[in-house]
This record gives sequence, structure tokens and C-alpha cells, in this order.
Amino acid sequence: MMKPRGIFIAGNWKMNLGPQAAHHFIHQLDDLGYPSKPVAGAELSGKIKVALLVPAVSLQSAKAACVEKKWWKNHLEIGAQNAHFETAGAFTGELSGPLLHELGIQLVLIGHSERRQYFGETNESAGKRMASLLLQGFQVIFCFGETRLERESGRTQETLERQLTEAFHSASTWATEHKTPLLPTHWKNLALAYEPVWAIGTGITASPEQAQEAHAFTRGWLKAAAPGKAPPSATTQILYGGSVTPENFQALLQGDDVDGGLIGGASLKPESFFKLIETGAQVI
Ligand code: PGA
Repeated sequence: MMKPRGIFIAGNWKMNLGPQAAHHFIHQLDDLGYPSKPVAGAELSGKIKVALLVPAVSLQSAKAACVEKKWWKNHLEIGAQNAHFETAGAFTGELSGPLLHELGIQLVLIGHSERRQYFGETNESAGKRMASLLLQGFQVIFCFGETRLERESGRTQETLERQLTEAFHSASTWATEHKTPLLPTHWKNLALAYEPVWAIGTGITASPEQAQEAHAFTRGWLKAAAPGKAPPSATTQILYGGSVTPENFQALLQGDDVDGGLIGGASLKPESFFKLIETGAQVI
């Protein structure tokens, strides 16, 4: 099976695994044979991208372990789970782009449903974060997805459309206000993550058909978006997230528009994260 956009596998550790555990995790991944075992062969490297989004306190030690293993900027990317749109100031508890750059971090997750549900993130604020971080040269994974109620009442596509429209409108407004348009060089650093809220941490995964349908809809939305106001539809990776496991990942990846996974629970153990990478490498 061919994946024209390659595969992107990102583990989201959420509020788990501190600096020591992060260091240990990376050493265990090495013991399991990563990267040479699942990603063997020059033809695969470059087509599969693997990242871990770790708690802020674990960024430094996770990065150091990757540097030690010579995986840094190569086989394993380390990213943050959120960052503010302003670059500095009175925002207690937040991280900024320059603070992350100081650690050498270049990847940030934005708009996760837990940020939306518990910490007041909106499409508008997530769109600003997306624009600001892309303009600062970060790679960004932007999350969106419908609730159970929205799906059960037949409003899935309407919800996705609203989230994407509002977030990208907010992103382009931010960029215009800062007199720095979002260009193709910025958009190429954006990946989207479709994460149905009802599937996150519930053990209930979207069926491969449901995932593909939402991903195709998203790609269609990107295609219809005004040029320059969103990333290009043909090349943007769209990841699926929500109760992905080593058992169901292969079936989910069958969807033509499913370019990888954003994985919470199953990324917390090196063994299952390793299996997810193996599965990704097999479908390329
Ligand atoms: P889960 O989380 O894999 O534990 O469902 C996914 C996510 O929230 O990114």
C-alpha cells in the first residue's frame, strides 16, 4: 500500500512521564531495536516521521536522550503539547515559542480537545497559536473533532467545517495583523489531527470508514479553502487520534486520507509505541 504523504506517528503523553521516565522510555525504545528494526532501509527513512509530545518538564531530558542516541533531528522528534501565541509576557503557566526554541524544540501540538474542554481553548485562540507558531518556524499539529452529541445528531461535518473555518480565519487574521502573511513555507509545517472527542481515551475507536470519511471531508475543505488561507490539500498530513492501539492502527491506516496517528494511551509504553511504528512502516 502506498502512502503518498508518508506516515506521521505522534505520541501524546499528556500529563504523564516525567524527565526520568522520558529518558528511560527512549532507552527502552532503543533496546527494542528502534529505529533500525521497524524503519529499516533507506527507502523508509524520510517517509515515516515519529514524534513524542511530552510534558514541559520532560522536554529537555527527552531531547538529551535523543541526542545521546543520535536520533535528534533524525529518527525521533520531541515536541510540546501547547504554546502561547504571544512570544513573552505576563501569561502565568504558559510556554512561548522563544522559550521552546531555547531548548531546541521545533514541534508543538495545538488545540487538543482537552485544552478546549478544560482550559478554555477555542477555535479562535487555537488559530492564533497555530499562526504565531508557524510564523516562528515551528511545526504544528492542529487538533479538531466532534463530540459524541454532535456525531449522534448528524452534525459531524458541520462541526468540522466550523472548527476549521474559524481556526483558519483566526490564523489568517493574526498573520495579517502582524504583517507577516502565512506562506507555503509556513503551511508545509502544519499537520492536522482529526480526533473525535468521543474516541479519546474511551477505548471506542472510530471505525476505519468513519475516520476516512472525516479525513476526506477535511481534505475537501482544504481544497475548497481560498488559496493562501490554509495549507495545500494534496500534501498536508491528516492524522487520526482517539483510542488508537497496535491492534486497530493498521485498519485505520487503510484510509487513503489517513496519514498517521496521534496516540495517547498506547504511546505511554515503549513496547506498544514500538508496535505502532512497526505498523506504520508496514503500510508505507
Ligand atoms: P488516546 O488519546 O489515544 O488515549 O485516545 C489520543 C489523544 O488525545 O491525542
